[in-house]
Amino acid sequence: LQAQLTLDPAFRVAPVHRRTFGAFVEHLGRCVYTGIYEPGHPTADEDGFRGDVLALARELGVTTIRYPGGNFVSGYRWEDGVGPVERRPRRLDLAWHSTEPNEVGVDEFVRWTAKAGVEPMMAVNLGTRGVQEALDLLEYCNVPSGTTLSDLRVANGAKEPHGVRMWCLGNEMDGPWQVGHKTAREYGRLAAETARAMRMIDPGLELVACGSSGASMPTFGAWEATVLEETYDLVDFISCHAYYEEKAGDLASFLASAADMEHYISSVVATADHVRARTGSRKRINLSFDEWNVWYMSRVQAQQPTVDWPVAPPLLEDHYHLADAVVVGSLLITLLRHSDRVTAASLAQLVNVIAPIMTEPGGRVWRQTTFHPFAQAARYASGEVLRVESLSPVHETAAYGEVPLLHTVATRGDEGTVLFAVNRSVEESLELEIDARALGDVRIAEVSTLGGADPYARNTADDPTRVTPRPNTDHRSDPLRVVLPPVSWNVIRLT
Ligand code: AHR
Repeated sequence: LQAQLTLDPAFRVAPVHRRTFGAFVEHLGRCVYTGIYEPGHPTADEDGFRGDVLALARELGVTTIRYPGGNFVSGYRWEDGVGPVERRPRRLDLAWHSTEPNEVGVDEFVRWTAKAGVEPMMAVNLGTRGVQEALDLLEYCNVPSGTTLSDLRVANGAKEPHGVRMWCLGNEMDGPWQVGHKTAREYGRLAAETARAMRMIDPGLELVACGSSGASMPTFGAWEATVLEETYDLVDFISCHAYYEEKAGDLASFLASAADMEHYISSVVATADHVRARTGSRKRINLSFDEWNVWYMSRVQAQQPTVDWPVAPPLLEDHYHLADAVVVGSLLITLLRHSDRVTAASLAQLVNVIAPIMTEPGGRVWRQTTFHPFAQAARYASGEVLRVESLSPVHETAAYGEVPLLHTVATRGDEGTVLFAVNRSVEESLELEIDARALGDVRIAEVSTLGGADPYARNTADDPTRVTPRPNTDHRSDPLRVVLPPVSWNVIRLT
């Protein structure tokens, strides 16, 4: 099969936002305990942080980390997680039916982000709590000193304020599974008053209102409209969450999951702009796609609820295969293509829980297949996002109708001109011809491909590099051509 595309530096969409490459650490399963934190592990540092996980988080190129949830945050008391560890309470975590030992809290988390070189992004509990507790956490984190809570932070060892800029006003408040679930109007009012008060402490904060927990929610669209009617001038972002999985063996539809994400983004942008028109505001609300990934959620739904309350049980530990990684790459392409409105995003999550990084308690760490497209996009996307004009064969999918086989975007900046491309065909290679005349005399410097004969091949602790990007030599430069194997993620660097 053959496809063509045209690259032109004039086809600018928006800057590449570094926050597109965010991730998420929730107190869920083994994400925190035996994930980022495991005192006694051979690689643990003086704070109990696993050095092997820190090294892979840096290699992943993640830029922001959303914390501490997720569903967890809606029942969380942040005060439980500060002060001397031996005095911290153990609590029931209703969201994940676990016991939370509170050995890690906000101070440890911020220390970890400094070591990882990432920006912390904090969520406040608007499920069981409200305005006052959000203000208390903000005071604890960001006020330099001289008040009870800021001095408490200093006494707890954090002399400098944590300086958290981006705050999520609750989590998935539209979901009936959420502790403290609310109607759109109830949540919108609470988010507005929380935002208004938080801005009295610091008008420069960047605040995220909860959008829907998925495009299939019955209130999708209406929820965003009502929440934004209440909060429009008080927040900067509306959140989006989306998870995808292969259903009933339909690989072609699964590989086209980005079609749903495209629909999701354009619907939320339209809704936000509709509210903008109605309110007469000059401000534009952007999208924080702060949970996205492949997640085999149907397997979780099929499980019996646990009867006990374990600490850090293995939950949501999906083992990703090649096709999952190709979908993750395609979702990243979608986020980049919409960089004019999606200005922040968080892969959910970072370690062990639907994660690119896996650990054994006390043992090894390895890169899941999905690690690679994320790391490569974070590494090579620079400067401006360029729209790519393409002509591609299409295929029919049960879930999304006709979908182009080629899914692509380009960026142009310090890393040169880089094309990120997915071949969604289950069986056929795509011979791609690139018209880059507008860029002058360019040639292909390097092509890296994540592919292979078995779309269901996985990495394990024993075989950690089975699915890994490899040089693709099937290309030439006059004219520019490259062959993209079926079910593949490709990074094409031009020079
Ligand atoms: O990321 C896992 C869970 O998915 C989060 O806790 C929740 O916000 C979402 O439903």
